[in-house]
Amino acid sequence: MPIFDPSVLPARARYQLLTSLVVPRPIAWVSSRSAAGQPNLAPFSYFAALSATPLLVGVSIGHRRGVPKDTLRNVRETGAFCVNLAAEARLSALNETSGEFPPGVDEFALAGLPLAEAGSVAAPYVADAPAVLECRLFREVDLAGDNALVIGEVLAVRLSDAVPLVPGTHFADTRGVRPLGRLWGDLYALLRETASLPRPTGDPAGG
Ligand SMILES: Cc1cc2nc3c(=O)[nH]c(=O)nc-3n(C[C@H](O)[C@H](O)[C@H](O)COP(=O)(O)O)c2cc1C
Repeated sequence: MPIFDPSVLPARARYQLLTSLVVPRPIAWVSSRSAAGQPNLAPFSYFAALSATPLLVGVSIGHRRGVPKDTLRNVRETGAFCVNLAAEARLSALNETSGEFPPGVDEFALAGLPLAEAGSVAAPYVADAPAVLECRLFREVDLAGDNALVIGEVLAVRLSDAVPLVPGTHFADTRGVRPLGRLWGDLYALLRETASLPRPTGDPAGG
């Protein structure tokens, strides 16, 4: 069994190990707008739920040829973005919006996606997304290399009829829209089955 020391690997090899071992990753389909008003949409799988109180999510965004990607530049300019739930029905559109397009390109128009305006932040969202998190920039963390971790505070949670609440709870039942995951390279993970197991109770060491 090989053991790799990341500190001596080329950056590409580190990226390939990381993204093939931390799987499947949820995908934030992030919509934003430049200060000049240009809409933008792109997927990001360095994405995590960070905290419920306050309600925080994190997206790690890189650079392209030394310049911040459009999403990062927009979030810096406006302090706002939306995370659209990436559902299987929109797989090809989502993939289309990942192209390395120049800042002037509106990926909503490119992929033929309807746009609506968030109510709580200055950012657009995908009008028919099954769920949307409207986020205000909470903090940006410099990750000491190519990426910046953008932490967003969720000011509004927008659910469509396709995502009902589990009765008596605020669990949003996303199973029906089949959220996408990312594996590595061009591979996506499709949700096909779930399993339900009750959590163990009590403290096994406590007697
Ligand atoms: C499924 C998927 C996940 C991605 N995740 C990330 C990511 O976490 N961070 C990143 O910087 N780029 C990621 N990318 C690449 C960006 O989507 C791509 O660079 C895009 O052009 C950025 O758009 P922007 O310049 O409009 O912000 C991902 C691409 C795909 C297809």
